[in-house]
Amino acid sequence: MACKRGALIVLEGVDKAGKTTQCKKLVQALQQSGRPAEMMRFPDRTTTIGQLISAYLEKKSELEDHTVHLLFSANRWEMVPSMKKKLDQGITLVVDRYAFSGAAFTSAKPGFCLDWCMKPDVGLPKPDLVMFLQLSPSEAALRGQFGEERYETSVFQRAVQQKFEQLMKDPSVNWQVIDASQNIEGVHNSIMDHSLNAINTAQDQLLGELWK
Ligand code: TMP
Repeated sequence: MACKRGALIVLEGVDKAGKTTQCKKLVQALQQSGRPAEMMRFPDRTTTIGQLISAYLEKKSELEDHTVHLLFSANRWEMVPSMKKKLDQGITLVVDRYAFSGAAFTSAKPGFCLDWCMKPDVGLPKPDLVMFLQLSPSEAALRGQFGEERYETSVFQRAVQQKFEQLMKDPSVNWQVIDASQNIEGVHNSIMDHSLNAINTAQDQLLGELWK
């Protein structure tokens, strides 16, 4: 019998919600329980496209807004062959940000609508589970200052949060909202429960296409 496919699991949320910490903990816990798992993150700053994005985020270069949006999407598409291969091999992928960040961040800029922003990512591998780490702006502020990168201001993050709320109304995506104000272990336990369910369900299903 062919090996069961891995699940595509995405963590999204505004800055300071703890996405990266939780992705790492989830991968570690899955591996320790004997389930093959790997972490990925977008943007993936290691590729040629990723380096253009990284310089833009670090404010070392300027890019036109539509252009950088399409680069973020291209940075996901360039990873699709290796993502599919790993999922086919039974490896669960835990992804720190995906097309939802792409659509939420650009559509929070003046002159962009969510619909246009979603288009370049239509047809990407569809996550089996997307967990949104929910944290109020006041709680995020208690976790310290924002960093120096582009987009790291509380005004912009509020606009991004509203766009995520619109995206979460889409019933074609398996969204789960996680209360990120709990302690690290509490958040991890919720994430682990949802992930084990998604892994069990995904193994007998074909990988879907996002927003199609
Ligand atoms: P990071 O801090 O998780 O590396 O994310 C980099 C920044 O890029 C973060 O502010 C969110 C933003 N972003 C987009 O604008 N579009 C995208 O498609 C992605 C994945 C991230």
